[in-house]
Amino acid sequence: MSKIKIAVIGVGVMGSQHSRDIVDLDNTELVGVCDTDPTRADDFASRYDVPAFSDYTKLLEQPDIDAIVIATPHYDHPQIAMAAFKRGIHVLVEKPIAVHIQAAHELLNAYEAALTQYPKLIFAAVFQQRTYGFWKKIKALIDEGELGKLMRTTWIITDWFRTQSYYDNGGWRATWEGEGGGVLLNQCPHNLDLFQWFVGMPKRVVGFAAIGKYHKIEVEDEVTAYLEYENGMIGHLVTSTAESPGTNRLEIVGEKGKLIFENGNLTFYRNRISTFEQIENATSGFEKVENWKIDVPHQHHGQSGHRLVIENFANAILTGEALIAPAVEGINGLTLGNAIMLSSFLGQPVALPMDGAAYAAKLQALKASSQFKKNVVIRDVDDVGSSF
Ligand SMILES: NC(=O)c1ccc[n+]([C@@H]2O[C@H](COP(=O)([O-])OP(=O)(O)OC[C@H]3O[C@@H](n4cnc5c(N)ncnc54)[C@H](O)[C@@H]3O)[C@@H](O)[C@H]2O)c1
Repeated sequence: MSKIKIAVIGVGVMGSQHSRDIVDLDNTELVGVCDTDPTRADDFASRYDVPAFSDYTKLLEQPDIDAIVIATPHYDHPQIAMAAFKRGIHVLVEKPIAVHIQAAHELLNAYEAALTQYPKLIFAAVFQQRTYGFWKKIKALIDEGELGKLMRTTWIITDWFRTQSYYDNGGWRATWEGEGGGVLLNQCPHNLDLFQWFVGMPKRVVGFAAIGKYHKIEVEDEVTAYLEYENGMIGHLVTSTAESPGTNRLEIVGEKGKLIFENGNLTFYRNRISTFEQIENATSGFEKVENWKIDVPHQHHGQSGHRLVIENFANAILTGEALIAPAVEGINGLTLGNAIMLSSFLGQPVALPMDGAAYAAKLQALKASSQFKKNVVIRDVDDVGSSF
């Protein structure tokens, strides 16, 4: 089998896992690593017997690179990807694709432009949760119309628990300058991506974001959002990195029933008739719709989602296999996160499509006025098992 020659840029928590997967997979070969921390780059390079770089522009000049995986802090994702596009190098970028949608638009425009010269250029994002059986089943049930017209989607995801020690490790984390956001930008991109994957994009967003409420950080660690959709559906998103025990419960309600995912169980309360018919036609004032409780089967592949995404990325280049997560779709979840934050800062609803420049300017102002002094404590690179 031919192998795609891949270099990894940023070999911290995530990039180190990606490097191991690339070495291990049948359709990929690791051909270089790059990290601005030269010791880290050298360590990886010697472990896998590949060249090390501390400057990604030098790495991209190498003649034998088909593709890169970008696993640096988020702010650098667009510029590294755009430099690769100019050389016709395929890109798999970590989530989020950018910190704000203004940068994401620039990135997607650059990809669009590069496609004219390199029509087969692949640009994918690491949204590995799209491979999980329960999320795929939920998407299929919605797409097949099992729920009918959607009325409400509510996702409480407060099980992203993080300690102060987590935030103190890695100078870039949880600062406006280094990361550009908190729970919405670091932990929630998967949820925001899945939210839009399931039910599309809202037309209006209201957000309430608490800044450093439970941790010594200058970004958000607790968020509540209300979303309104063109088709009348409403949505809620509640998230936190401070609750323990936390909750991860998704409810999607349609006229034909209610789907609940919690603790690994997918339950469908299937209505015998449409709720709307009952509201319209019932002769008694309180009679609810008869429903049947169904435990919906779903299968998990039992593999690492990250690894599957890399394998799929290489297959997309080799055989044209459809991507699990085209990076162009990454702007949707990012828009949700940016809109929630902008709404919270402005104290008013934000209509979509939102003003990306306004949010970029707000971030810039937050960076410029930051007085936050971070107490950086470097720990060993954590196992990726606890990172998402
Ligand atoms: N898909 C997932 O489940 C998942 C899980 C964890 C992290 N991530 C994402 O991966 C990215 C990295 O997160 P992490 O936890 O691995 O961070 P990390 O701090 O552990 O690693 C980042 C590495 O990038 C290096 N670096 C910084 N700027 C660089 C540059 N310009 N060029 C080359 N190297 C550079 C740093 O020295 C560091 O070694 C983030 O965007 C994060 O959101 C995704």
